[in-house]
Amino acid sequence: MTTPKRTLYATTPIYYVNDVPHVGHAYTTIAVDALTRSRRLAGHDAFMLTGTDEHGQNIERIARERGISEQEQCDEIAAKFRELWARYDIRYDRFIRTTDEIHRRGVLRLWEKLRAAKTPDGQDAVYSGIYAGWYCPRCEAFKDEDELRQPGNLCLDHERPCEWLEEQNLFFRLSAYEGWLRQRIESDQLRIRPESRRNEVLGVIRQGLKDFSISRARVKWGIAVPEQPDHVLYVWVDALSNYITALGFADDAPDYRHYWAGADERLHVIGKDIIRFHCLYWPAILYAAGVPVPTREFGQGFITRDGRRLSKTTGNVIDPVALVERLGPDAARYFVLREAAYGSDWDLTDAAFVARYNADLANDLGNLVSRALTMVARYCDGQVPQRWQAPLSKSPKADFTETFATSVNAPSAGLADKVLSHYEELAFSEALGEIWSWIGQLNQAIVQVEPWSLAKDAARKAELDGFLYRLLEAVRLVAVLTTPVIPRAAARVFAMLGIGEREPVTDDLVWGRLEPGTPLGVIAPLFPRVDKTQDSKENAVSEIKPPVPGVPTPPASAGATSSAVSQTPAPPGGDRIDIAEFAKVELRAAKITAAEKIAGSKKLVKLQVDLGSETRQVVAGIAESYEPDALVGKSIVLVANLKPAKLMGVESNGMVLAGSEDGKAVLCTFDAAVAPGTKVK
Ligand code: MSP
Repeated sequence: MTTPKRTLYATTPIYYVNDVPHVGHAYTTIAVDALTRSRRLAGHDAFMLTGTDEHGQNIERIARERGISEQEQCDEIAAKFRELWARYDIRYDRFIRTTDEIHRRGVLRLWEKLRAAKTPDGQDAVYSGIYAGWYCPRCEAFKDEDELRQPGNLCLDHERPCEWLEEQNLFFRLSAYEGWLRQRIESDQLRIRPESRRNEVLGVIRQGLKDFSISRARVKWGIAVPEQPDHVLYVWVDALSNYITALGFADDAPDYRHYWAGADERLHVIGKDIIRFHCLYWPAILYAAGVPVPTREFGQGFITRDGRRLSKTTGNVIDPVALVERLGPDAARYFVLREAAYGSDWDLTDAAFVARYNADLANDLGNLVSRALTMVARYCDGQVPQRWQAPLSKSPKADFTETFATSVNAPSAGLADKVLSHYEELAFSEALGEIWSWIGQLNQAIVQVEPWSLAKDAARKAELDGFLYRLLEAVRLVAVLTTPVIPRAAARVFAMLGIGEREPVTDDLVWGRLEPGTPLGVIAPLFPRVDKTQDSKENAVSEIKPPVPGVPTPPASAGATSSAVSQTPAPPGGDRIDIAEFAKVELRAAKITAAEKIAGSKKLVKLQVDLGSETRQVVAGIAESYEPDALVGKSIVLVANLKPAKLMGVESNGMVLAGSEDGKAVLCTFDAAVAPGTKVK
């Protein structure tokens, strides 16, 4: 903390607005938020940028399919990102949209510089040529043959056919910057982490870098190339520029000069999917244009589900709104940053989320805070007690008390340094691990010291006070150090300690700040335990999927009755299926003969349905919309060939179809009598 003040500029990728945010977006954004908060806490000057990537063919396509303008599509989804970041307590300094005027002007300024640029061997950095190749419109990138899956020339990421494109384009001479890039990366002037990503990038350079086209015909929704107005700038050049345009690159604004040109660190945090664009294209473009280049890149790992990549295309998604609503923003932030080393892939499950919450937040941290504060309330009149004065008596506990007296004091300073340097390296899990191991020691100290026994002996009051003072200080420091990850809880602990519900600052890192005699605030549970027996599967994050804009949310019954919930509905006219795929689903008319609510569940109802040849038991998530009695006698549509599933321990043999209006389930019925068992086609 005695290091000189440094300036850090940290960015997330700007996210595509072709669909609602998904949990991977939240993951990067939480990480950058935690990083910048931790740098500010350490006394440095940190700026966080995030935003949305709004141009390109995908947006044109989605807007057309939805019958709205491109700008409307962008506005709607950009607003959803902002709302999501508010829910997650993300404190970004600026939100850039590539449809902002400040961005367009900045891109054109960069373009001017590029057009005039010469490579190290004196050639034009930008030249005109013909591009022919396999193009994935979803990645907005040309693919090499070895990046396609056969048959069908499928993009490996999107599992969709690439198109063969031939265009007269402008090219960027990336090949001329191979040596410069290698040197920059090998010397760590461009520090790429984790190490595996750095090796990957060096491997790509070793194979030889190809020039890439930086203008596109056919695409209209973008920034027009000034000397070729029927072309727009390649969406990746447009997008990458956001990192400088957002700061006012167009006008050489003070923020640009301070946070980009003058920063000690220019860091991009990205997913491993976009490493090449950021570690090769972007630095080379900037270098060619004579603009300072990034100093650091971090490629985060991917969140998977059931070991599979999350993908909007395959519908395997986790809704970031459901994740944050499940147990609150602190819990969600803590979970994603603690559960796995940042940089590695990991599988997100609801069970792990609840287990982490209960063990780390409710038990370890929650108990520490509530025990410390309750004891002070009880034994010290609800005021911060006196600091340690008397020497320790030689009681049987004294050895430990002495250890505790020093272990809480001395290592805390070292601990703070360690934690802050882990944060700086984006090693969140390690930082939290350090704090939690200290929390473990503190909880253990309470058990061993037995303050309740000390309280029975008036002669040991000073000892008791000294212990509880240290304990409160430790709680305070835990709140300070966890602030970057769980800012709300940290502010609440401050309020309970009587020092005001505020965000901790650098000065708060100093041991011994609590003033004896300060009255404590109101003590309230920090993270109430989630009782698994009451916590129904209905809340499970991994069972909830985000709606696709323009498409009604799936029926409540569908969400509650089968594993088919992991399928995201296709955008209209988008991911169509053929009749043979549809024919796999057996839909039948069924008559409800009995209905009853399932104990312990708000949403689920158990139905007996007559299918003509048999009676079936089905569980449906419609209890909030229909009274059981009102269901009996209704003819409904049943997905009859689903594998059985258990919900709240009750077996379900099929799925009832329903729509949803204002969150209320509306059953699909028939407008004339149909015999039970009739096939629905
Ligand atoms: N618009 C481009 C980025 C341009 S940056 C100049 C883009 N957008 S994106 O919406 O597809 O978001 C990509 C980023 O989202 C990834 O780089 C990563 O940060 C995050 N993630 C997307 N899916 C992810 C997971 N399943 N797991 C973790 N993060 C992933 O690419």
